[in-house]
Amino acid sequence: MIDERFLSKKVQQVKPSGIRKFFDLASELEDVISLGVGEPDFNTPWHIREAAIYSIEQGKTFYTANQGLLELRKEICSYLKRRFSLAYDPTKDVIVTVGGSEAIDITMRALIDPGDEVIVLSPGYVAYEPSVTLTGAVPIIVELNEENQFKLTPEQLKQAISDKTKALLINFPSNPTGGVMTHEDYEKLVPIIKEHDLLVISDEIYAELSYDVEHSSLANFEEIKDHVILISGFSKAFAMTGWRLGYVCADPVLIKQMNKIHQYIIMSAPTAAQYGAIEGLRHGMDHVSEMRDSYHTRRNFIVSGFNRLGLKTHMPQGAFYIFPCIKHTKMTSEEFCQALLEDQKVACVPGTAFGEAGEGYIRVSYAYSIDEIKIALGRIEQFLKNKGFL
Ligand SMILES: Cc1ncc(COP(=O)(O)O)c(C=O)c1O
Repeated sequence: MIDERFLSKKVQQVKPSGIRKFFDLASELEDVISLGVGEPDFNTPWHIREAAIYSIEQGKTFYTANQGLLELRKEICSYLKRRFSLAYDPTKDVIVTVGGSEAIDITMRALIDPGDEVIVLSPGYVAYEPSVTLTGAVPIIVELNEENQFKLTPEQLKQAISDKTKALLINFPSNPTGGVMTHEDYEKLVPIIKEHDLLVISDEIYAELSYDVEHSSLANFEEIKDHVILISGFSKAFAMTGWRLGYVCADPVLIKQMNKIHQYIIMSAPTAAQYGAIEGLRHGMDHVSEMRDSYHTRRNFIVSGFNRLGLKTHMPQGAFYIFPCIKHTKMTSEEFCQALLEDQKVACVPGTAFGEAGEGYIRVSYAYSIDEIKIALGRIEQFLKNKGFL
């Protein structure tokens, strides 16, 4: 008989994603409005799709170099230089991956050993804690809070460091809070990172979706740049979630190790997607800024809508999520989302899906049209009235 004896202990430790659980519930109901999914509602711009189709027509259907097409790596490096003043060598410092997801996985597996400690921010993206646990390392959770606009403070960082700390894993702009760290915020962390010789794994997949301040990266600080592993991808900024394309940039000493795992488990990222991405980076920046402008408008609309309903919402400066506080309802995040789904068929994600620090909050995506957001706000208003909160 097949039972737990046959399962990996490490994998058993990992909980299934709290987001999926909610969507399984929502999929059983009709007429649900979802503000739950973390993906752009835009189609991939047509010229990107066309370039990928053309590559297939031309018979470019083979594996590429393990690290990705050199042409694409060059475009990625020139884009990072142009947009964020980050200098990387396309021949040595970059691997094109299957989404930011693979980049996170190979970074962890190549650099982290059992017993190491990795500092993980909470609330944070659902994959981080499991990716640490699966290496046999210990995630050290730092709880971010609304009073600090969900930023990481130098005091919090110092407190979390022990002699076992190997790396700090960060994600700004943040999923789920929309929090952003500015250059000045990072400046205060740099001496601590340097003093303790930490690696920084920086997931900057929402870098293009910064609304109020210029995006900044810890890789912009020369004194620690060789300690920073930059992860990004095409899913969010270029509306390319289904293409499964991302990248990781780092010091060649690190990249060499990551590439060994990438070679054996992936071989190379999807070829047509790589041709699409080259086109996106060369000619797609206008579309990126149009989409950013649209999210910006939606952000302002949804934040004022939630605040009007008494669901206190801080103004997120990036990504496409808001993180409203529901503490005054005395419901847990999970109870709130469940009741809202049952009562008004609006699907949001409990804050606790992103770690315990998310209790008392819900994550709402605004990668939806203003019309959909308006309907959802109307239903949420009705829900709050039905429960006696309005
Ligand atoms: C913070 C963050 N990192 C990484 C990913 C993974 O993105 P992908 O694998 O599609 O590039 C996501 C997707 O939601 C995300 O929100």
